[in-house]
Order: sequence, then structure tokens, then C-alpha cells
Amino acid sequence: MEELVIKSLEETKALGLKLGKLAFPNMMIVLEGDLGAGKTTFSQAIALGLDVKEIVNSPTFVIMKTYQGRLPLYHIDAYRLSKSSEDEYLEEYFDQGGVVIIEWGKNIEYLLPKEYLLISIKDLGLEKRKFELIAFGKKYQELLDEVLK
Ligand SMILES: Nc1ncnc2c1ncn2[C@@H]1O[C@H](COP(=O)(O)OP(=O)(O)OP(=O)(O)O)[C@@H](O)[C@H]1O
Ligand SMILES: [Mg+2]
Repeated sequence: MEELVIKSLEETKALGLKLGKLAFPNMMIVLEGDLGAGKTTFSQAIALGLDVKEIVNSPTFVIMKTYQGRLPLYHIDAYRLSKSSEDEYLEEYFDQGGVVIIEWGKNIEYLLPKEYLLISIKDLGLEKRKFELIAFGKKYQELLDEVLK
């Protein structure tokens, strides 16, 4: 587990951009954090790093939105989901060669593959955020090492 204290919105954007640039097919990023922590803001920066030209916004009301970048981006918001809501169809997107970002991924933990990068964002006030990054699997450990380099 790695911990980062981010001091500004710009720093969050720079980190997301870097992660987006390092994206590989079937990469999965799971984002946790309270309302307004910065999950969507961070997702937007990843999308930019993926060369997505469209504006990425919160997919809350549609659960999943697809964007076209260097790789397709599948942006999922699991806020309203739970184990009982039968969302197995989402798994279909996990191995399509795109990049999957899941906000509130814990809500569909039962669907998550073994390997992914978990990022928990905590609002420390103003633009300050604490990022906790946990890599599940070797590939994600390498990604994390590269992102933090
Ligand atoms: N360092 C920072 N990193 C991320 N967001 C920041 C930062 N500083 C300020 N902000 C602001 O905090 C807000 C974060 O909102 P955002 O929609 O990204 O949160 P969220 O975690 O996706 O919330 P929700 O759970 O409601 O979808 C934005 O208005 C953003 O500009
Ligand atoms: Mg959001």
C-alpha cells in the first residue's frame, strides 16, 4: 500500500494523466472515497491521459458510460448498486481490451477480478487529498511503481 498526500487539484490531475498514459488493455482502476472526494475528477484526468476527447462526467444515472480514446474507456459508477441488484452484465466490459474505471467499486466487490488497482481518496480539506493506492497483482504493482516514479 502506498500513501500520497496531494496538495492541489492540479496534482490530482497530473497523477490521473500519468496513469492514463500508462494504461494497458483490460486495466482496471477501482476508486473509493466519499461524495466529492475527487473520484470523477481523477477519472477525467485518466481519460485525458487516454486521449479521450469527449467530456467525462459522472455516470451515476446510467451506471456505465463508454468513451473512445487510445483504448475504449468504460466508466462505471456503482454508487447505486449492491450485490442484490444483479449487475453481472458489467463483467462483460472487464475483458474487452479497454480501460475500466469503477467509482464505488466496493459495492460490486463480488464482481471484481483478482487483479486491479484500488485507489481510495480522502478529502483533507480545500484541495488537499490523501490517496491510498493498493495494487492487487504483479501487473498492478508494476503500474503503481511506475506511476509513483
Ligand atoms: N486535489 C483535488 N483532487 C480532486 N478533486 C478536487 C481537489 N481539490 C478540489 N477538488 C474538487 O473536489 C470536487 C470533487 O468532485 P468529484 O465529482 O470528482 O468527486 P466524486 O468523488 O466523484 O464524488 P461523487 O461520489 O459524488 O461522484 C471537484 O469539485 C473538484 O474540483
Ligand atoms: Mg463521481
